Amino acid sequence: MSRLLKSKRRATKSIATVFVLQSFCKSFIMTTFSNQQERQQYTDSSETLSDVSQSETTNIKNSRTIVVTSGKGGVGKTTATANLGMSIARLGYRVALIDADIGLRNLDLLLGLENRILYTAMDILDGQCRLDQALIRDKRWKNLSLLSISKNRQRYNVTRKNMENLVKSIASLGYQFVLVDCPAGIDVGFINAISPAQEALIVTTPEITAIRDADRVAGLLEANGIYNVKLLVNRVRPDMIQRNDMMSVRDVQEMLGIPLLGAIPEDNHVIISTNRGEPLVLKKKLTLSGIAFENAARRLIGKQDYFIDLTTPYKGVFQKVQQLFFG
Ligand SMILES: Nc1ncnc2c1ncn2[C@@H]1O[C@H](COP(=O)(O)OP(=O)(O)OP(=O)(O)O)[C@@H](O)[C@H]1O
Ligand SMILES: [Mg+2]
Repeated sequence: MSRLLKSKRRATKSIATVFVLQSFCKSFIMTTFSNQQERQQYTDSSETLSDVSQSETTNIKNSRTIVVTSGKGGVGKTTATANLGMSIARLGYRVALIDADIGLRNLDLLLGLENRILYTAMDILDGQCRLDQALIRDKRWKNLSLLSISKNRQRYNVTRKNMENLVKSIASLGYQFVLVDCPAGIDVGFINAISPAQEALIVTTPEITAIRDADRVAGLLEANGIYNVKLLVNRVRPDMIQRNDMMSVRDVQEMLGIPLLGAIPEDNHVIISTNRGEPLVLKKKLTLSGIAFENAARRLIGKQDYFIDLTTPYKGVFQKVQQLFFG
């Protein structure tokens, strides 16, 4: 009887041992599996991370940051930024426009985006929002976005480093062009706006005061390491040039010695388009200034290295422009 009990106990013990062994093996296998899974996941994620950072680095390398500046105020920087930006976006590139005119921003008005600005770059820096929340996408051309630096002048504490980091982050998102609309004058706002740029576009009118100020800005840009500078002559009046009452575009370009990107005629449609919040280049039937902005945009992206395109349907207009601007 006791022998029978003993053998029963032994059997139960061995069954229990098998169970313990089984569960141990199971947990060992599970642990190993989960470790493998985790390791795999970790490897995958680290691969993705390195991929992302690699693609971000490539994006930054492929992006061009151009500051649109002038010495004298009111010569057409914001008008040029809006129209060139819109034109480049229409040519298929991803474009981000930065309104660095703190306190007196109006790039949003020219683009008709004033009601959509909830956040600015200051909110990103304060940790109130993400970059993609402050970047307003244009509804007409989704590859065009706008970032305002600040809504009011009181919070004027964005630094050069802040600007550089902002532009780097925008470029890493895949924006191929970042155009910075510079504030008037050459104070701290100007220095901040030019700091992330590798290229500059100097806007001037054909007036001696604006040209002299443009020359000072050209010197400042060079002093700050920006050597790739181009010139946009705005508000050109061909009738006045003909009467010798205004300097020709060639005269302005020779005085400044900066390569010419384009010349924009004086045009009442600029004011109409500003009031409507619709850049000139969006018009179905382009005006002369709209054509001139498109031409300048093409030259900026390197698609058109000549000033006048005689092969376009606007041949007559362009010939006229060429004759009047350059004689
Ligand atoms: N080609 C043009 N023809 C007619 N009006 C123009 C032209 N270009 C700009 N303007 C007008 O000139 C005014 C100043 O233009 P804009 O605001 O673009 O200049 P800005 O250089 O950005 O000025 P600020 O220095 O104050 O920032 C606006 O009223 C605009 O409509
Ligand atoms: Mg402006």
